[in-house]
Amino acid sequence: MTGEVRGVQLARLLGQWHALPGRRRSPDYAALAGAVRGLLADGRLPLGVRLPAERELAEALRISRTTVTAAYRQLRETGHLASRRGAGSWTMLPGNHRVASTGLWTPLDDREMIDLGVAALAAPPQLLTAARAAAEDLPRYLGGAGYHPTGIIELREAVADGYTARGLPTSADQIMVTSGTQHALDLVLRLALAPGGSVLVESPTYPNALAALAGRRARITTHGLAADSGGWEADLLLGSLRQTRPRLAYLIPEFQNPTGHLMPAPLRERVVAAAHAAGTDLIVDESFVDLPLDGTELPPPMATFDRHSRVVSIGGMSKPYWGGLRIGWVRASAPQVQRLAAVRVGVDMASPVLDQLVAVHLLADAPAIVGDRRAQLAAQRDALLGALAHRLPDWRVTAPRGGVTLWAELDGPVSSALARAAEEVGVRLAPGPRFGLDGTLERFLRLPFTLPAADLVEAVGRIAGVRYDLDRAGRQRWQEPAVIA
Ligand SMILES: Cc1ncc(COP(=O)(O)O)c(C=O)c1O
Repeated sequence: MTGEVRGVQLARLLGQWHALPGRRRSPDYAALAGAVRGLLADGRLPLGVRLPAERELAEALRISRTTVTAAYRQLRETGHLASRRGAGSWTMLPGNHRVASTGLWTPLDDREMIDLGVAALAAPPQLLTAARAAAEDLPRYLGGAGYHPTGIIELREAVADGYTARGLPTSADQIMVTSGTQHALDLVLRLALAPGGSVLVESPTYPNALAALAGRRARITTHGLAADSGGWEADLLLGSLRQTRPRLAYLIPEFQNPTGHLMPAPLRERVVAAAHAAGTDLIVDESFVDLPLDGTELPPPMATFDRHSRVVSIGGMSKPYWGGLRIGWVRASAPQVQRLAAVRVGVDMASPVLDQLVAVHLLADAPAIVGDRRAQLAAQRDALLGALAHRLPDWRVTAPRGGVTLWAELDGPVSSALARAAEEVGVRLAPGPRFGLDGTLERFLRLPFTLPAADLVEAVGRIAGVRYDLDRAGRQRWQEPAVIA
């Protein structure tokens, strides 16, 4: 069991369940059961969560208890609910089906393929200039052994200055340079999470974070994000922290991967306070913080609200600059950084000095480079949205105000089948279930806008072709749940 959902909370999640498609033909209890199944399929209602007692839900929805009883009965019959007398009812999927995610995420080398599986930009033109300048700087370091477990001081200072400029005073001894954000996450988990420890994550979330958690054999609970509105449901998120008191929570508050949501300032403050009260440490992944689009204003960093060293922030160069650089960092208290460095010497000792020098030069040119990236991403996002509106008008998409991905709600639970069919026409897709734990999220697809506009438009055209082929081929091809192993 991963917690419980109260009557009012479920009522809020269910929203306008009366108005669901096909509603006119079905009685109230069937519509209610269908709406609960929909929440499960979308990942907004986690598996293993205890539903409210029948009377409580009836009161919250202002319907008769008999209707809720009949809806729960139908959910039991379809395998979406397990009940034990006196103990309550828990959500599940038919046949106890769970699809594991390896989270393995590797770009393809096939040059003919339009790869929408990877959400990262090609290197900016300034990278070569920065690399040449870094080579010029290198002699300053050649007289030493070259091992800097927390990173070279110039880069730590530049990263610390970036936080200070965002309104979060930070000194270099609070920064540890890592070999990418993924490495930062892995190191923090090694330090903070005993094998089998509990971690709360968003659903959907970044697949490689799930892989890192699987590596620590973490017990994962999820907070389902809404696809359309603001993303995080404040009451449910704070309630989950209070009820499950996880050891850690991993959150992506800036342009969340994959949904693109931006967590507002008041919720940041409440999450940090609730985490502290629950004894939960927060790992805040700021991978996309440099990429607000359309002049979107950023709320203060999560760590601004932290008075008790509960927040560890991680970030890196990959999204605004280039993934091939493999430079990331952790921002924590100075003693935590020292402990992380001690863990790190048992893993990889230190990050390459030359790459760190390249990062220093790129950060010195940040306004120009990042300004260009934002303009490029906004144009590509608009091209992608335009192509989707034209070729796949039944899909629901909300324009993200930053980051590099959008989270499309499809016109059916076909994401995995679509990804398989798209591969055959030269488009690689990351289907919805890759971003969750339970094999749900089949009605969603992450689409990055990191490729040139012409590639995005071409890809959408090919996807639209196979989408309608799926329907012509009948349901057989996509009825089987896709197992990712
Ligand atoms: C949310 C999130 N965290 C971490 C990473 C990994 O970043 P890095 O290349 O810095 O290891 C990514 C890359 O896609 C990401 O989207």
